[in-house]
Amino acid sequence: MNKILVIVGSLESAPSVYEKMSHLLSVSIVEPSVVLETGLTGYGLVLLNISDLSGDQIQSLKPLLRSLRNTVVICGVESGSAKQSVQAQALRAKELVYIDRSLEEIVDAVRRYTGDYSVPDLPEDVPDATRGAALLACQVMDELAFSVVLDKPMPIKRSLESVAAISTALQTDGLDAWVSAVENHHSYTFYHSLLVAGLVVAFGSERGMNQTSLSLLGLGGLIHDLGKLHLPLSILDKPGRLDEAEFELVRQHPLFSKQILDEHSEVPKQVVEMAVLHHEYLDGTGYPFGYVKDQLSEMVRMMTICDIFAALSERRSYKEAYGPRQSYAILFEMGEKIDQKLLKDFRKVIFSPDTSVARRRA
Ligand SMILES: [Fe+2]
Ligand SMILES: [Fe+2]
Repeated sequence: MNKILVIVGSLESAPSVYEKMSHLLSVSIVEPSVVLETGLTGYGLVLLNISDLSGDQIQSLKPLLRSLRNTVVICGVESGSAKQSVQAQALRAKELVYIDRSLEEIVDAVRRYTGDYSVPDLPEDVPDATRGAALLACQVMDELAFSVVLDKPMPIKRSLESVAAISTALQTDGLDAWVSAVENHHSYTFYHSLLVAGLVVAFGSERGMNQTSLSLLGLGGLIHDLGKLHLPLSILDKPGRLDEAEFELVRQHPLFSKQILDEHSEVPKQVVEMAVLHHEYLDGTGYPFGYVKDQLSEMVRMMTICDIFAALSERRSYKEAYGPRQSYAILFEMGEKIDQKLLKDFRKVIFSPDTSVARRRA
């Protein structure tokens, strides 16, 4: 997706809508002085927040804005201000967004130019059931993100419909089709969550778990990393390795998940546990609490296995994607940290004769 630059008069007094946007879109927020130093190249869209930029600041940016060729410029204005609208028109803004209206409206306006980050790039040969399930799951992930950022109830019913669609797709088309459908998603977080959801539902089915448990597992897979919404997309989708401070921040995501989910009583308890505890290990060496065996439910243990397997299998610019045999071996070597009995069952999920994940990637 095209990167977005938001220019505000002052980071301290910028409208809060931009900070919220940074969790839903790949946004950098800067003051004019930064732009004057570094320029505007590399951005697909520049959003100029007229409402808090001074006349002098706007003047200083004009030459840079005029030199842009392929970058869309839009302006953020207050809906009642004729003066700000006139200033935006003078800058030949392609569109005005009203910063005092809903976040959805602003995000929609931006997405008209940058493309919708939540929509997956599905290869043409993705079978129908898998295609439908992947599209629905992405919509639901987007709705979940909005509900967190806007502090609204989570769309649990839609999420469960999405999990049911994933479950049907896995039965109809198999796990391999699911992996192929989701692995091209341009958002690493979407890709990872959808992969984990598919793996954990397949894992539950393999173990003969009932429909209710499969729904909880699938929902857990979709939202297990929800706390990452507290982090800017610029860190989550960073192409290179994270620096130490960024890494520490990312490690806090289970606690962020707890903070978010404590406010959402509509989310089932088992799902909250999977989100908060999937980085714990049975021997107490995990995080955030260092819990041990009895404190970690079977669903949490299953989620941990799927999460690690997914992370190892994923392609990132700074690391190779491990094949399933290698990933499985790493999980096996983790010994007492992981539930090895469950891991044995997981073997059947990734090495089943119907699943070519192993054949294709080993
Ligand atoms: Fe996580
Ligand atoms: Fe994860």
